[in-house]
Amino acid sequence: MNLFDVYPINEVTIVKAKGSYVWDDKGDQYLDLYGGHAVISIGHTHPHWVKRIEEQLEKIAFYSNSIKIPLQNQLAEKLGKVSGKEEYQLFLCNSGAEANENALKLASFHTGRKKVIAFSKSFHGRTALAVAVTDNKNYTAPVNETENVIFLPFNDEDALEACFKKEGKEIAAVIIEGIQGVGGINVADDSFLRSIRSNCDKYGAVYIADSVQCGYGRSGKFFSHDFAGVSADIYSMAKGMGNGFPVAGIIIAPHIKAKHFQLGTTFGGNHLACAAALAVLEIIEEEKLMGNAVMTGKYLKDQLEAIPELKNVRGRGLMIGFDVPDELKDLKKNLLWNQKIFTGEAKPNVIRLLPSLALKKKDAEQFIDAIKEEIAALTSTTTE
Ligand SMILES: Cc1ncc(COP(=O)(O)O)c(C=O)c1O
Repeated sequence: MNLFDVYPINEVTIVKAKGSYVWDDKGDQYLDLYGGHAVISIGHTHPHWVKRIEEQLEKIAFYSNSIKIPLQNQLAEKLGKVSGKEEYQLFLCNSGAEANENALKLASFHTGRKKVIAFSKSFHGRTALAVAVTDNKNYTAPVNETENVIFLPFNDEDALEACFKKEGKEIAAVIIEGIQGVGGINVADDSFLRSIRSNCDKYGAVYIADSVQCGYGRSGKFFSHDFAGVSADIYSMAKGMGNGFPVAGIIIAPHIKAKHFQLGTTFGGNHLACAAALAVLEIIEEEKLMGNAVMTGKYLKDQLEAIPELKNVRGRGLMIGFDVPDELKDLKKNLLWNQKIFTGEAKPNVIRLLPSLALKKKDAEQFIDAIKEEIAALTSTTTE
C-alpha cells in the first residue's frame, strides 16, 4: 500500500530529537525553529514529559469517558491556573480542527443561531465547520460549502460593525486567531479584538478565540488574544498542549452551560493525553517558558529587523514572521540544506519561526548568523 500523497515532503528522515534539536538518520543535527509546526512547546523529548507519559503508560493508557478520570480534573485545574481562566470549563478532544468544530457547534447550540463571522486569510482546520470558516477555497470541498459563514477583512473594525448592524441577530459566533499562523503571521489588532468582544456582547454572539497555533504561551501570554485585555467566550487549543502528544481542547466561559451528549468524543481526555498535557503545563510554569518566549522572541525580532533585506518582521513572542523578497526565494531551502535549520513558511513569501518556547539565546544567535550568511550568499550570486 502507498501513502495518500497529500504533502510535499522534504527529503529528510528525523530519527531523534532533544530540546530545540533534531537529528536525521545520517546523524546530522538540525536546529528546529519550526517546532514540528508550532507543536513543540517545552522542547523535544523533555525528560519530565517522557517520564510522566512512561509512568502513566505503565498504569493505564485509555478508558472511555463513561468513567471518572481524575487526571482530567487535575488538568482542568492546572490549565485554569496557568492560563488565568480558572472559572472556565474544559472540554477535551484530539486535534485543533476538532476543537474549533466543537467551539462552533457549541456557539450554535448556545445561541440557537447559524451564522458565523470569520476573516480573510484565516485557517481553522480541515473538518466540516472548521474548513467552512477557513479562507482558502483549495481546502473546501463542495460538501463544505455553506451560506452560514460571512468572511470579513481581517482587522477591519468598520466592516465588523456594519455586519453586526445588518445581521447581528443571526450571528452565532465570531472566530478569530489572535495571530494568524497559516495566513502568514498577521497579528489581530488589540482594538479589533475589543470590538469583537463588544459587538458579541451587544448582539448576543459568542467570541471564539482560536488559540491552536498562537496559544499555549507562544506569544508570551498564555493566549495571544489576552493582549487586548478582554476575554473570549471560548478558547480552542491544540498543538503546544501536548508537545507532540495528540491532545486538544476548548475552554468555555461559565455562562455557557453544558448539556449531556451535545459534545462528545471517544479518545478525547484519555489518561495518557492528560498525563502529557499536565507535564507540558508543569514545565511551562516551572521553567518560566512564557518569560523566555518574550525575551528570546524580542532578541530574534530585533536582530531580524536589523537585516535590511528582510521586510515587515512581525509577530509576538516566539511566533515570528517576515517577508522574503523574490531574489531571496531560496532562503528557506538554503537554511535547511546548508545550515541545517528548520523554519516554517507561509505562501507566497513568508518565513515563519515557531520554535520551542525553551529556545535558548545561543540557538537564536546561531540562526541570526546563519540567515545573514545565506542572505549574503544569495545576494552575491544575484548581483554577479
Ligand atoms: C490556527 C489553527 N487552527 C486550527 C488548526 C487545525 O489544527 P489540527 O491540524 O490539529 O486539526 C491549525 C493547524 O495548523 C491552526 O493553525
